[in-house]
Amino acid sequence: MSEPATLVTMELMGKEYRVPSGLTILAAMEYAGYKLVRGVGCRGGFCGACPTLYRREGSHRIFTALACQTLVEDGMCLVQIPFVPAPTKPYDLHSITPQSTTLLRFFPEIAGCVACNTCTRSCPQGLPVMDYIQAALRGDIERVAMLSFDCIACGICSSRCPADIKHYAVGLLARRLYGKYLVPPSADLALRVGEIEAGRYDAELRELMELPLADLRARYEQRTFEPAADQNGEYSATRRYNSPMDPVDYQDELEGV
Ligand code: SF4
Ligand code: SF4
Ligand code: FES
Repeated sequence: MSEPATLVTMELMGKEYRVPSGLTILAAMEYAGYKLVRGVGCRGGFCGACPTLYRREGSHRIFTALACQTLVEDGMCLVQIPFVPAPTKPYDLHSITPQSTTLLRFFPEIAGCVACNTCTRSCPQGLPVMDYIQAALRGDIERVAMLSFDCIACGICSSRCPADIKHYAVGLLARRLYGKYLVPPSADLALRVGEIEAGRYDAELRELMELPLADLRARYEQRTFEPAADQNGEYSATRRYNSPMDPVDYQDELEGV
């Protein structure tokens, strides 16, 4: 007989629930009876749809996380937050060029960065967000592209920035400019595009398009893919973590704990 799950107590929207430990916040909300229609997407830590703010018992701090990647804790207290919108000036990538002032022109608010580092501390991807905003101010598009590469546009950094910067939009424009104008041409890519244009994969694509949905789904689920590595370089099927830069860890770092 399997062991009964340990239960933890958490507060959701002001109401207390007992939920099994080991669940992610998303799964715990569903266990508690919430039907999630917004604030949920891939459930794999990639789409950025589930940014969450929560408190821990005994701490005045607000912690940030992706709800699909963070396990519930005893005493956790959270409320649902609205999505973080990203209004930005429209641009036509074909008509702008990667100048040192391009990012500042589209996002003048980056000049208001006060270097508080809140964005970096709140990023569930552990990205050096303040550093890429500072690089954007210097006009270093390549560095912005590199440092923001793993951004999933969850918007947590923006929701906490005192200068109202839309960090993910800055990173996205930098990566688009880098990809279109700055990255050296790839010989492998040109080769593969040539193969596609020559019809090398036509038969396989046709076969896929004619497959019944169930067969297509089975093939998708059986595909080989690269497993995620954890912080020790070990590979595991799932990747669940609390933000490596959450305020408590960061504070410990500052205090040399
Ligand atoms: S949160 Fe905003 S003001 Fe603070 S360092 Fe990040 S970009 Fe600058
Ligand atoms: S940089 Fe901002 S939007 Fe991107 S993953 Fe980090 S917190 Fe989310
Ligand atoms: S649901 Fe996609 S990142 Fe959490």
